[in-house]
Amino acid sequence: MLKEIEIINEQVATFTATCQQDIEKFRREFTGKNGVIQSFFDRFRELPPESRKSIGAPLNLLKQSALQKLQALQENLNKQTKPVAFDFTLPSRQFEVGSHHPISLVMEEVIGLFERIGFSVKDGPEMEDDWHNFTALNFPEDHPARDMQDTFFISREDKMVLRTHTSSIQVRTLETETPPLRFISPGRVYRCDSDATHSPVFHQIECMCIEKNVSFADLKDVLYYFVHAFFGKEVQIRFRPSYFPFTEPSAEMDIGWEVNGVFRWMEILGCGMVDPNVLRNCNIDADIYSGYAFGVGVERLAMLRYKIKDIRLFYENDLRFLGQFR
Ligand code: PHE
Repeated sequence: MLKEIEIINEQVATFTATCQQDIEKFRREFTGKNGVIQSFFDRFRELPPESRKSIGAPLNLLKQSALQKLQALQENLNKQTKPVAFDFTLPSRQFEVGSHHPISLVMEEVIGLFERIGFSVKDGPEMEDDWHNFTALNFPEDHPARDMQDTFFISREDKMVLRTHTSSIQVRTLETETPPLRFISPGRVYRCDSDATHSPVFHQIECMCIEKNVSFADLKDVLYYFVHAFFGKEVQIRFRPSYFPFTEPSAEMDIGWEVNGVFRWMEILGCGMVDPNVLRNCNIDADIYSGYAFGVGVERLAMLRYKIKDIRLFYENDLRFLGQFR
C-alpha cells in the first residue's frame, strides 16, 4: 500500500487544472467521498495493527497535501478567470477633445511670424543671476531702475532672481554667439504685480537683431511687419519716447484701432536700439555692430486678439474659457 500512496502522491503533485471541470475531476478522483484517498483509509482500518504503524503517517500526509492542492488549484483558477462585470449595452464614455491654451496659440503664431523672416528661437533659465537679468543689461548697481520691475528675489546673497524679462536671454546669446544675430526669445517671466491686467507670472517674447549698420528704421520695419501680420493691415502704429537701461534711444509702441466706433491707442511693447554698453558687456565690438530689440507681452497680445478683459482668466484653467480656443 505504501507504493500506491507514493504513486497517488505523485499524481496529486503534478495535477494541473485549467477549468472548473478539472478541479471537480480532482475532487472526484482524490479527495472526494468515493475518491482514492478515502478508499485507502477504508483499507487502512482493515489492516492488522502492526502494519498500520508504517502506513498511517504517509497516508495522513497524502490527505493533507491533496486538500492543500485542491485549495491551491481553486485559488489559481479564480485569479485567472475574473468574472466579467461589463455591460456591453452601456453608452460609451464621453471623452473631451483638448485644445491649445490661448497663450500658447499666440506664442506659436508670433514665433512662426518671426521664423518666416529669418529669426531663430533662443531659450534661457527662468531663475537668473543678477548679471544676466540686470547688470549686463546696463542697470547700474543699486539703481532705482531695478525696482521698475518689482523683482522676486530668490536669494539676496547670491543675487538670484526670477527673471523679470526675457532680455536675460539676449545677454546669454550675445555672450556665446557671434553676430550677425537675429533671434527671438519667448518665455515665462515674473514680477511682483497682480491685478486685472497684471499677473505675477506672464509671458514675453523678446526680439533682437545685431548686425552691421542696423538702424531705427530697420526696427520700425520689423515692427510694422509684425503688427500688420498679427493684427491686420488696418491697425495704426505710433512710437512714444521712453526709457530702458538697455536701449538708447528707447520707445514705447502703441497700436490704434477702432473699438465700438471709438478710436483708441493701446500700448503694446517696448523697443529701442541696443545700448552700446550692453554689447560691450557681452564682448561685442560696439564700433562695428549695432542692433535693435523689442519686448512684447504675450498676454497683452492675446487679450487684444481675443478681447479678454481680465488676465487672470488665462491661469484659472476654467474649461469653459479654455475650450473656446482651437
Ligand atoms: N525688457 C523690457 C521689459 O520687459 C522690454 C524691452 C525689450 C524694451 C527690449 C526694449 C527692448 O519691459
